[in-house]
Amino acid sequence: MTNRLQGKVAVITGAASGIGAETARRMAAEGARVVLGDVNDAGLESVARETGGIAVHTDVTVEAEVRALIEAALTAHGRLDVLHNNAVMAIPEDSDAVATTDHAWHRTFDVVIMAAAYACRVAIPAMAERGGGSIINTSSLASRHASGRIAYASCKAALETFTLYTAGMFGPQGIRCNAVAPGTVRTEGMERIFTEEQFQQFASGVALGRMGIPRDIADVVVFLASDESSYVSGQVIAINGGGPPAQRW
Ligand SMILES: NC(=O)c1ccc[n+]([C@@H]2O[C@H](COP(=O)([O-])OP(=O)(O)OC[C@H]3O[C@@H](n4cnc5c(N)ncnc54)[C@H](O)[C@@H]3O)[C@@H](O)[C@H]2O)c1
Repeated sequence: MTNRLQGKVAVITGAASGIGAETARRMAAEGARVVLGDVNDAGLESVARETGGIAVHTDVTVEAEVRALIEAALTAHGRLDVLHNNAVMAIPEDSDAVATTDHAWHRTFDVVIMAAAYACRVAIPAMAERGGGSIINTSSLASRHASGRIAYASCKAALETFTLYTAGMFGPQGIRCNAVAPGTVRTEGMERIFTEEQFQQFASGVALGRMGIPRDIADVVVFLASDESSYVSGQVIAINGGGPPAQRW
């Protein structure tokens, strides 16, 4: 513990597993008081026990639940310094521009964009009242490469624009807003979708020769949450092990 987030209060969504859970652990280790939202109550309780945080059952697609999550942080600690919009779920009918159903488009938009909008509506005024804060959105490099699912990737691209506008519009009130855009990260969510052989293929397509792990992303989120990044705002930071290895001619 080096106390880089000492005194700060952080709300993290999708905190029951993967990148969100690791971010909660890393933030708590750096001295933050964490308030955790997810629909997976068992996972959430376990991460809350590990981090000394507060678990609040939150479906990020329901505005009242997102409001209650942020209000829980304000009630318990009297302040909010960091918001990490991170929750996501895979929608099976999300595929391409022809086949993707209305339901998949709307659910994906709700979990990626509306969730961030609901959280910012409450978080930004609370942060601004105390001079500012740091918002970190989890995007994805799927927004830039056509390898994945169209609704997910399109909504992540929209989240990057949301990030830019939030930084520009609330910077004068001391609010910073950045996004992290991971490449392929081995998380519980990914383990439900891909095989070991596919994980090996992912690793061989990365210059550094391995897939990302949640810690790789959480460390950058901690930096963006901390005062070390106090002049960094409106950025989308790719975290992908250098991308594909170079082709030598
Ligand atoms: N793993 C990767 O390769 C990768 C790559 C790029 C971006 N990302 C992004 O990282 C973030 C975290 O993903 P992960 O890989 O850790 O996945 P994960 O499945 O391990 O974690 C996602 C969490 O979100 C929760 N969640 C789902 N729907 C929710 C809802 N409606 N309300 C609240 N919580 C909900 C889940 O219960 C889960 O705990 C996501 O935004 C994802 O798009 C992941």
